[in-house]
Amino acid sequence: MSALASMPAPAATLRTADSRTSAGARDLDALIRFVASNRFMPAPPDGLHNVGDGDWRAIGAEFLGHFVRLGGLAPDDRVLEIGCGTGRMALPLTQYLDPGRGSYEGVDVVAAGIAWAQRAITARYPAVRFHHVDAANSLYNPAGAQRVEDVRLPYADASFDFAIMTSLITHLEPAQVDAYVMEIGRLLRIGGRCFVSLFLLDDAARAALRAGAGRIAFDPDGAGPAFYADPERPLAAVAYEQRHLLGCFARAGLFLARPIAYGGWSGRSGGFGFQDICVFARRDLPRDAGLPGGRQP
Ligand SMILES: C[S@@+](CC[C@H](N)C(=O)[O-])C[C@H]1O[C@@H](n2cnc3c(N)ncnc32)[C@H](O)[C@@H]1O
Repeated sequence: MSALASMPAPAATLRTADSRTSAGARDLDALIRFVASNRFMPAPPDGLHNVGDGDWRAIGAEFLGHFVRLGGLAPDDRVLEIGCGTGRMALPLTQYLDPGRGSYEGVDVVAAGIAWAQRAITARYPAVRFHHVDAANSLYNPAGAQRVEDVRLPYADASFDFAIMTSLITHLEPAQVDAYVMEIGRLLRIGGRCFVSLFLLDDAARAALRAGAGRIAFDPDGAGPAFYADPERPLAAVAYEQRHLLGCFARAGLFLARPIAYGGWSGRSGGFGFQDICVFARRDLPRDAGLPGGRQP
C-alpha cells in the first residue's frame, strides 16, 4: 500500500479540543506525538529541497504546538505561510485544521518543493494548498524572474486569520522583509495573527555573542539593521536589529501580541528553542497612514 493511501484522515477525526483547557492541552500533546511518530505521514526525499537541519516531521509537529500555544491558532483559521518549503509546517496542520472551515495556502520560490507538497499533501488534503512564486533569492532561487519587492501574492485583502514565516526572514534582505511584511499586513484581517521565527539582535543577544556563547557567527558590533553570518553567502543566515524589525512590522499594522520568546541561538540564558519567536496581531492603522500594500484608505 502506498504511504499516501495510508495517511490519516483529515482533521475531523483527530481535531484538537480547546488547548486552554487541560483536556485540550492533553489532546494537543497527543496530536503532536501522533504527527511526529506516524510513519504513514509523508516526508520529502533527501536532497529535494533543504529547509533546515533536524527531523522534518518532528520539527513540524513541535511548531504545531507553538502555533496553537503561542500564536492562538484555531482549527477554523485560514492560514497563509510564506516560505513554506516542502510543507514541514503544513503537514501537521492537516491534522489540526477543520477541513470544512479552516484552510492553508503555502507559497515558496523553490518549484521542486512546491510540486512535491502538492503531490504528497494537497492530493490527500485539498484544503491545504501550495503555490510557486518565482521571486529571486540569491541562495534559494537565484534565477527568479521577479523581485520580492514586486510580488503581490494571489489572494484577496484581509482573507487570512493566521500568517506564518518560520525561518524565512533569516534568509531575506531588508527590502525583501519590508515587502513581505506589507503583504501580510494587506492579507491579514484586523485581529489576525502573524507567527515569525527569526534571529533578533537586542542588548542581551549582543552581550552573549560578545562573550562567545553564540551558535551563529553574527558580528554583534556590525552596522545593521541586517547582520550576515557569512559574507560569502549573505542569505545563508541573516539576523535583524530588533528595533528595526519591530518598526517594519508596525508600519504594516502588526504589533507584538505577546512577549518575544527568545531562542538559544545567541547563547543568551533561558533561551526557548533555537530561533526567536514573535507573534504579531494585525491592528487598524490611522486613516491617514495609508494601508499596507500601497493602497489608500
Ligand atoms: C529555512 S527554509 C524554511 C522553510 C519553512 N518555513 C520551514 O520552516 O519548514 C527557508 C524557505 O524560504 C524560502 N524562500 C526564500 N526566499 C523566499 C522568497 N523570496 N519568497 C518565498 N519563499 C522564499 C526557501 O525556498 C525555503 O523554503
